[in-house]
Amino acid sequence: MGLDTTHYAARRRRLAERMVDGVAVIPTAPERLRNRDTHYPYRHDSYFHYLTGFDEPEAVLVLEVRAGVPTANLFCRPKDAEREIWDGFRHGPEAACEVFGLDAAWPIGELDARLPEILADRPRLLYAFGHDPTWDGCIARALEAVRQLARSGRTTPEAIVDVRAWLDRLRVTKDASEIDTMRRAAEISGRAHRRAMRSVRAGMWEYELEAELLYEFRRHGAQSPAYPSIVAGGASACVLHYVSNDRQLADGDLVLIDAGCELDGYASDITRTFPVNGRFSVAQREIYELVLAAQAAAVAAVAPGRHFNEPHEAAVRVLCQGLSDLGLLSGSVDDMIAEERYKRFYMHRTSHWLGRDVHDAGPYRVGETWPVLAPGQVLTVEPGCYIRAAGDIPEKYWHIGVRIEDDALVTEAGCELITAATPKTVAEIEAWMAGRA
Ligand code: GLY
Ligand code: MN
Ligand code: MN
Repeated sequence: MGLDTTHYAARRRRLAERMVDGVAVIPTAPERLRNRDTHYPYRHDSYFHYLTGFDEPEAVLVLEVRAGVPTANLFCRPKDAEREIWDGFRHGPEAACEVFGLDAAWPIGELDARLPEILADRPRLLYAFGHDPTWDGCIARALEAVRQLARSGRTTPEAIVDVRAWLDRLRVTKDASEIDTMRRAAEISGRAHRRAMRSVRAGMWEYELEAELLYEFRRHGAQSPAYPSIVAGGASACVLHYVSNDRQLADGDLVLIDAGCELDGYASDITRTFPVNGRFSVAQREIYELVLAAQAAAVAAVAPGRHFNEPHEAAVRVLCQGLSDLGLLSGSVDDMIAEERYKRFYMHRTSHWLGRDVHDAGPYRVGETWPVLAPGQVLTVEPGCYIRAAGDIPEKYWHIGVRIEDDALVTEAGCELITAATPKTVAEIEAWMAGRA
């Protein structure tokens, strides 16, 4: 069966309906050198891929829009028998046009010659100026070439608009095909977390556990992790972006794993925190139950019509009350919130948009306020509590770091956690880990 191109065409149509008249130029990402002549694994640009599904480097979508109707032109690498022996298959313009359901395609080498004519006499250009200096130069040259034709009666686009802002508004609401892919990514990531819980042993190195995650991602077809996996034992869990994963896991410690795969261009993002020896200590359990309650409150605030910050506000309120009950913060909850004293233990936010990018496109402000949640949006819910050693903190809590993160799809009725198949309560985690070989 060929690629289903209808979703890409529908997205181009939605962009075109808003543009009405103009040209959008959306390049894919360049290949990037890692060292000397070795490249990083290639990853397309998220905006470009959202509109085309095309995976090869050295490509650009030039979308011409007239009266709200798009014509999709692709410029891509030509067929090249010699290069294909070394680097693998290329579609070439003719097949790319056919397979990806585009209107026309040319070799990328013809872009400079063709672009001025495409831009001439059009009212506006949508392009992400400032993102890539090489492409900025190409676009600036094309605009200059059109300007040179002024005395022949040709006009240059008057408005240059950042296409990212327009595409972000589309990307924040996922279509059926995106939700399907995100569900599958979440399913694979859940398997990886379950595998890690079953694999962990005291004395193991964090990177060994990371290897279990990567094995499960790749084995189920995910192309890569969506972001560097965090496998943080003991005190390392209090380092929010810990990625060295090079310490040994000790009996009695918790281990925090924040890891999710990228599948067909879509991220998943899950955090679980569990005991290396399979049983929470009393103090670990107290903190864990508090974060779990904060997460439940936050999840309950994810629903259509609620605003983006409501889950965060709900989580913070539960955490403040709990930190007070445990004697870790004093005073009224309202004062703790007003003075942001909880930030000593909870210094990050509760949610971000999730999609093609782990911190996905989408607004965090609309005018003076937060965006209102709507069905089809996906956001994470990830409260945490991180307790460093300090003289005013009972020693039993030192170095406990807990985060619990799920991916929430906003539905008509509320939300659905698409990562729910990963053990999360103390009882679920201990029961799952009891099944270790
Ligand atoms: N894993 C990145 C994040 O949770 O935001
Ligand atoms: Mn996250
Ligand atoms: Mn995460």
